[in-house]
Amino acid sequence: MDHTVTPEQSAAEQALTDRVLRSFAATDDPRLKELLAALVRHLHALVREVRLTEAEWEAAIAFLTACGDITDDKRQEFILLSDVLGASMQTVTVNNELDGDATEATVFGPFFVDDAPEIPFGGDIAGGAVGEPCWVEGTVTGTDGAPVPGARIEVWEADQDGFYDVQYGDDRTAARAWIAADANGAYGFWGLRPTPYPIPADGPVGRLLAATGRSPMRAAHLHFMVSAPGFRTLVTHIFVEGDEQLVVGDSVFGVKDSLIKRFDRQPAGTPAPAGRDLGGVAWSRTRFDVVLAREPAAR
Ligand code: BEZ
Ligand code: FE
Repeated sequence: MDHTVTPEQSAAEQALTDRVLRSFAATDDPRLKELLAALVRHLHALVREVRLTEAEWEAAIAFLTACGDITDDKRQEFILLSDVLGASMQTVTVNNELDGDATEATVFGPFFVDDAPEIPFGGDIAGGAVGEPCWVEGTVTGTDGAPVPGARIEVWEADQDGFYDVQYGDDRTAARAWIAADANGAYGFWGLRPTPYPIPADGPVGRLLAATGRSPMRAAHLHFMVSAPGFRTLVTHIFVEGDEQLVVGDSVFGVKDSLIKRFDRQPAGTPAPAGRDLGGVAWSRTRFDVVLAREPAAR
């Protein structure tokens, strides 16, 4: 669209932006000053670029108000908005700079809880959650290839119906646990083969997706958070190679090619790791070798 304005109009608009910027000139905290200046510059540029109408401004305020109305201690619509606009993923990308072959990070998501049970090597995280059993194994090393014994590996995922335990509204703990890497940095556990599921789409963010022809679906994934002293904590997921949703697109832009892993199906009756008797059901297996970046101070 052609939004050309006269030089006088443009100068008046720029003068307002400059006046607002000057209003923050006395801000003591230099970071706050930098953030506010950038906010004002970009916000004013947006309003001017699209020639925002007053009705559109009101609609935007109503949308943000609706995000606030649906937000409570279990539902955070503003984070969801940030997620579908790619702002969460851009923040993750900025804060986890590529470092050699260190494993890439992705979004945290709203379904982590920090008191998940510990399981031993070969344990099962399912806790009653339904889904195809999946053996997950790998190592945790630094970028120098040295193992990281004792690394804490938190894992969590949705069940085959696409729900996390916390979405059931009872007190169940299922499909989540933590495991410590062994003396060689190795780990292995039983989880569930991940399946695609939608982000919560019954609120204003869901309406935004519908209005723009976008799907709320996330590509199938298994969440990891890996931490160890001296290393940058890694928040990531692995995705399932061949998942249709990888082609259609992930609603929160969380996919990175390096995080797509093979989940090989094993026919019923194939002997299972860690002495598990699966009673003749098919299962999957995958491998995820985690490489941790050093914390900046420890490099
Ligand atoms: C998730 O992976 O669980 C998730 C991430 C972002 C928004 C909603 C859900
Ligand atoms: Fe998830």
